Amino acid sequence: MKTRNYPSNRNVKNHSVCGILLFTLSIIQFSLLQAEGGRTPVYARHGMVSSASRLASEVGVEVLGNGGNAVDAAVATAFALAVTWPTAGNIGGGGFLVYHSDTGEFTSFDFRERAPLAATERMYLGLDGQIVDDSNHSGPLAVGVPGTVAGLWLTHQRLGSLPWSELVEPAIKLAREGIPITYALQTGFVRNADRFRQYPASARKFLRSDGSFFMLGDTWFQPMLAHTLELIRDNGADGFYRGENAQRFVHYMASIGGLITEEDLDRYEAIEREPILGSYREYDIISMPPPSSGGVALVQMLNILEGYDLAALGHNSADYLHVLTEAMRRAYADRAQHLGDPDFNEAMPLERLLSKDYAAQLRAGIDMAQKSESSSQQIGQPYESEETTHFSVVDGEGNIVSMTYTLEYGYGSAIVVEGGGYLLNNELGDFNAVPGLTDEEGSIGTAPNLIAPGKRPLSSMTPTIVAQDGRPIFAAGSPGGRTIINTTLQIILNIIDHGFNIAEAIEAGRIHHQWLPDLTNVETLGFSQDTLNLYKSKGHAISQQGSQGAAMGVYYDRDSGYFLGASDSRRGDAAAVGY
Ligand code: DON
Repeated sequence: MKTRNYPSNRNVKNHSVCGILLFTLSIIQFSLLQAEGGRTPVYARHGMVSSASRLASEVGVEVLGNGGNAVDAAVATAFALAVTWPTAGNIGGGGFLVYHSDTGEFTSFDFRERAPLAATERMYLGLDGQIVDDSNHSGPLAVGVPGTVAGLWLTHQRLGSLPWSELVEPAIKLAREGIPITYALQTGFVRNADRFRQYPASARKFLRSDGSFFMLGDTWFQPMLAHTLELIRDNGADGFYRGENAQRFVHYMASIGGLITEEDLDRYEAIEREPILGSYREYDIISMPPPSSGGVALVQMLNILEGYDLAALGHNSADYLHVLTEAMRRAYADRAQHLGDPDFNEAMPLERLLSKDYAAQLRAGIDMAQKSESSSQQIGQPYESEETTHFSVVDGEGNIVSMTYTLEYGYGSAIVVEGGGYLLNNELGDFNAVPGLTDEEGSIGTAPNLIAPGKRPLSSMTPTIVAQDGRPIFAAGSPGGRTIINTTLQIILNIIDHGFNIAEAIEAGRIHHQWLPDLTNVETLGFSQDTLNLYKSKGHAISQQGSQGAAMGVYYDRDSGYFLGASDSRRGDAAAVGY
């Protein structure tokens, strides 16, 4: 774990967001407080959990109430999300966790899925060199060796305080006693029903016994998942990677043509990694290093943008969107060219990518009147799905956890392990599947992210903590595939440059540009036509559609002692819960 020597003489901006409201809130300080999206944060006195599922946030808060720290609450929330938010919450996937203690130590944990030992560089290709039947995204070959349970176990071993079993138990209870079918669950199950029907255990889990759809208000029971969670409760990570579950897992994999063996499970290891550390104005940025591209690209963009008076440009003005786009274009180009699993890419130029000098060089190429070109080596962007989940936790001491994990697609591969009750990821689709093929349509074939046995695919997940003078202030992150990095960037700018509170910062309209295709996605809500016309007059092409991400944030206002939370209203059953 690292500690940073923070300069002591910083000219600190005050982003207190409480004001007069605090007087009112102090009256209700001991009740459970929650909010389900919107521009007003939830305020609390003792801690906060913000996740994609109200039930899971409540589990985390209960752990805080029982004396658990932020890591304990994060572990319990993560297991609960595997029950209550199955589109992305998981034990069969992987992700990343960033931690910053109130006393200045910070670290990160990598539990990204790995390619099985039998994987090969061209495993998805037919003799004609084309991907066979979308097999890098669909079916058993897309499944990576899961990392979530190992990651939660390692993080708990390092930083947890309550007994492990107490943190898994609430998820078991939710799975055994059932949870209500919400609108988000119901529609998700219906949308994915055809995928579930391909696998008997999936159909049994996500459809009623007569094959019909669950309806709003039904109670949904997950007894098999409860059993697997009991193995994990009683045996720690071994409950997943060894013994009964491992045998069941590999037996089922073999029966459907998957590659993962007992040796793959046995050899899986989560890794504690030194986080990416950057600075932005008076703040420190702590984020995820490779195999996530998130931290590197985020800091690179912030370094470029530090050279502008963004507040003076005006939030979401045409000039503001222009400089954001130009920073994004440049960082995503470097991401595509340089980043991959660090254990397989010794030569990644991280120091250069993260340096202020390099950012100044890139900034010098930005013309305020005209967009730059995204041409170069024709490095394209592969498809990445939009289902992942992020949550943030702050405990009463001010320790913060920022965690994002995923199954890749919504409901991952849609494959539920027979007898195990949990979904498997399709994360191997994040590798570059066709070596050397890089084109404008979206294929990418650069070397750092080609498939190899035991390798982790490159990710965009960007769990991030922002600190000041060695103490964490806020955490945020989001799902959204490649858009995640830009979503996190804009939340940080909204707070630091525009003085928004955490809820306003999360709700505000967002854009996304990823170098290639040379197109800016602009959310449908939040931008005026006048602004977009001005923006387009600089040469930008836009695509205006839907919404971007589903961010969950917590903020510790040290001046007032209040904890603030916000959950994105864009998606699902999200709620920030404090107490
Ligand atoms: O690791 C990644 O970047 C992707 N597999 C994440 C997928 C994702 O965010 C889907 N989310 N909404």
